[in-house]
Amino acid sequence: MKIQASSTTHLDHFFSASAARLDRWRELNAKAQAWAADALGGKPHQGRAAVEAALVELYALEDFFAYPGPRLMKVLAERINSDDAASVGQLVRRISGALLSGSYRYKSGEWETADDSDDGMSERLPSTLGDGDSHRPYFETLFVTPAPAANRAKIAREIRHLRRVEDAMVYESVLVGSVEDALLATIMNGKIEAVVIFDGIPVPSQHNVPLLHDLLASRNALDTTSLAPHEIGVTLAHLVKRIRPELDIYLLSDRQVEKVAGDPAASMIRRVFYEVEELMEVHLNVLEGVADRFSTPFFDNLKRYAARPIATFHALPIARGKSIMKSNWIRDMGEFYGQNLFLAETSATTGGLDSMLEPTGNIKVAQEKFARAVGADHVFFVTNGTSTSNKMVYQAVTAPGDIVIADRNCHKSHHYGMVLSGAQPLYVEAFPMTEYSMYGAVPLRTIKQAMLNLKAEGRLDRLKMVTLTNCTFDGHIYNTRRVMQECLAIKPDLIFLWDEAWFGFARWSPFLRPRTAMGAAAALEDWRASPDALAAWQAQVVELGEELDPKDPRLLDRTLVPDPRKMRVRVYETDSIHKSMSALRQGSIVAVRDEDYKHHASAFHEAVFIHASTSPNAQIIASLDLARRQMELEGYELVMRAIEIALNIRREVSRHPIISKYFHVLGADAMVPAEFRASGFRDFLAPGSTWVTALKSVQEDEFFLDPTRMTLVCGTAGYDGTSFKNLLASKYNIQLNKTSRNSVLLQSNINNTRSDVALLIKVLLEIAQEIDARLADGGDSECAAFAARVKNLMEDVPDLPNFSRFHDGYRDDPGNITLEGNMRDAFFAAYNEDDCEYLPLMSPQVEERLKSGPELVSANFVIPYPPGFPIMVPGQVIEADTIGFMRKLDVKEIHGYNGTRGLKLIKPSAIGKAPTGGQAAPATAAPSKGKATATKGK
Ligand SMILES: Cc1ncc(COP(=O)(O)O)c(C=O)c1O
Repeated sequence: MKIQASSTTHLDHFFSASAARLDRWRELNAKAQAWAADALGGKPHQGRAAVEAALVELYALEDFFAYPGPRLMKVLAERINSDDAASVGQLVRRISGALLSGSYRYKSGEWETADDSDDGMSERLPSTLGDGDSHRPYFETLFVTPAPAANRAKIAREIRHLRRVEDAMVYESVLVGSVEDALLATIMNGKIEAVVIFDGIPVPSQHNVPLLHDLLASRNALDTTSLAPHEIGVTLAHLVKRIRPELDIYLLSDRQVEKVAGDPAASMIRRVFYEVEELMEVHLNVLEGVADRFSTPFFDNLKRYAARPIATFHALPIARGKSIMKSNWIRDMGEFYGQNLFLAETSATTGGLDSMLEPTGNIKVAQEKFARAVGADHVFFVTNGTSTSNKMVYQAVTAPGDIVIADRNCHKSHHYGMVLSGAQPLYVEAFPMTEYSMYGAVPLRTIKQAMLNLKAEGRLDRLKMVTLTNCTFDGHIYNTRRVMQECLAIKPDLIFLWDEAWFGFARWSPFLRPRTAMGAAAALEDWRASPDALAAWQAQVVELGEELDPKDPRLLDRTLVPDPRKMRVRVYETDSIHKSMSALRQGSIVAVRDEDYKHHASAFHEAVFIHASTSPNAQIIASLDLARRQMELEGYELVMRAIEIALNIRREVSRHPIISKYFHVLGADAMVPAEFRASGFRDFLAPGSTWVTALKSVQEDEFFLDPTRMTLVCGTAGYDGTSFKNLLASKYNIQLNKTSRNSVLLQSNINNTRSDVALLIKVLLEIAQEIDARLADGGDSECAAFAARVKNLMEDVPDLPNFSRFHDGYRDDPGNITLEGNMRDAFFAAYNEDDCEYLPLMSPQVEERLKSGPELVSANFVIPYPPGFPIMVPGQVIEADTIGFMRKLDVKEIHGYNGTRGLKLIKPSAIGKAPTGGQAAPATAAPSKGKATATKGK
């Protein structure tokens, strides 16, 4: 029997194919071993059918991976056909072992069959694969060629023979024969780092891939009918870049290569070759392209520096580690961390190193490489977290009196950033998720309303920036492009600060990238350059007029289009690289894609000087450099795995008959109200959900849920979030992210493995079984107590307070509709203790003041964990709902609140005083409460 890919085999799950592939090899191995055992026991024919069936699915996948490759697969088929169960068992065990351990990347023996050693016809790899000490990095290069399938093995052999001992890396080739197969390989095989496209390739795949067709159609990506043969290569290059922008692409053409090379539409192609030229040139370019991503200029220099015999007559006695290694008392520090850490500790900015405050050498290059990796124009390294990155952006971009529209739930660094710069926050509210004691994200309608109110009152010119958290702690991802597009329609030079502290990894997922700030900025620039942009704006002018009328209610309901000739793309993104990539704690970046950056360049340098330590940690900088290298080379694969792991957790929890009695992970339908899911997407696991429906949701919906952030409801198991978190940490060694009253947040990242999933599921099962047993043993009274506890956690939840308003004494004009305020003055007012008073939270005086005044005005930020954002900011009038919320809070950690003394308030007599102690603008008219709701998110 000849085994081949079934023509009906679906590759529909290609985005998760990589993980599924290893499972299938494991399964095949189990079946092959069973067959071999049967054969040994005298039952030779049992088991073969099972092996063949398991292989059918694998055959379809294996075309897209270099290992085991066509040759070993052919040998396997031959052994099956000759009923040689024992040697099938051996070969399958070896292949699946090599795949699982990754040993095929450096052991050439894994590519051989047992008979290779002496057959003279061996295709044994030159020993340059990486055997021995060298362990050269291994990758795969995709060749898309019109050559007949029968010739591919020969081409692969020719490519292999190009290897030289001098090569710093080694690659194997994957050969496919069509555009669609090239896309499948790009999607499925994360080891591919370079793509070599020959001109004249056909489009359709030899596989049955209806989902790929839907996917391409949904993005208008591949209209084969309109493509001239010579355009196919360039179109494929575009599509590959959309999926994985980091890949190097080469085109081999027998047309006028100079023309292709000079065509701006082909600018994403790294080199164009004339097809008959030396293949060696292609080989060297492929290696050079990957080496460029591999190179980590700062880390490489730091290693060289550490190896030099340097004597320091400087501060930093820890450098070189002599005082540690020789110490009687702290030797264990040296043993624990290893000597290299101390050899690499340096305060030098010369001698091969560079200054982070004024980089001109390898830090500058490392930052440029990071900018390339995330699609920014500039990247600044920050060694004290995104808390500082955010403050730097405020410092550089805003000035006293500017207005910033900010998500009230944003991280405290934004609020402090505005205290520092003197910008006035105009808080907008996220939609509440009261039942889980958390907030979602800010509806675009709310943001537009705030902007239109400013416009109506003639203060739009003071609006400098919009700040939003993308994604939120709990996983709400904005439609970044749409938010920016519509805001730019109201104010074309608006700046955006997207706090992507948690979301840096998203750059490496084709699903999530369009929703990153940088991804959306690129899309906006592309859109602006297309003829559609002007046409769309002109159509809008016919309907709404050239100057938008802020009172026109239609503006809130329709998608607004900016004038492409006026709009500016001014986007800042901050990422805690340490939160989602392999950087040391506090490694963060500011990524800039601002076409008017020149106006802020010198302010930005000031911001670096103000906020950066003059003693930045070299190890953090090096880890930023390395994190970038890793993501450019394996980020795609790692992020896909993190997503896959999250989907596995979601699936296992929901399907498990015992776990699901007490726990559930909230789906997109529970996390994002239906009004923000226009595409109708329900959840990743809902029946009928595919990658196509997920992509539709990414494209169309106002909010998309980050699949890697999983809200696990534990209130239904009788646990509040904090107790459950502590239980998992203390008893089971499982660390979680944040908690809410009745849930905990699980997060998968590039570090997780399937063993972690197994552990989590095992632990959840154990806890669920304990509850089962307790309820069974405890009888009715235990059941009633449990039900009451669940009800308390799930139903008696405190209402979430909205931002009330700044006291009139901290507002430029209390009559304004919008509620921006001068938080900085209020903040500094609290520096004078005589101007402050304390009121115990439970005291009846609180009620009296709420009822009859004078108003309670917060003197400082009060930030309970959870939820982790300020429920009071300096200058804010405290209303009954905030007091109610505070009183119901059952968390231990509340920053800014002194439990013994009570709420810190600004005395009524001190309100409006200038921070210097002089008198600022007098507190004016009565509070404009009626108008205050105008910018509140509903
Ligand atoms: C949304 C958001 N932004 C910024 C930060 C601060 O980041 P870092 O811890 O890197 O200072 C955090 C921290 O949790 C955050 O959640």
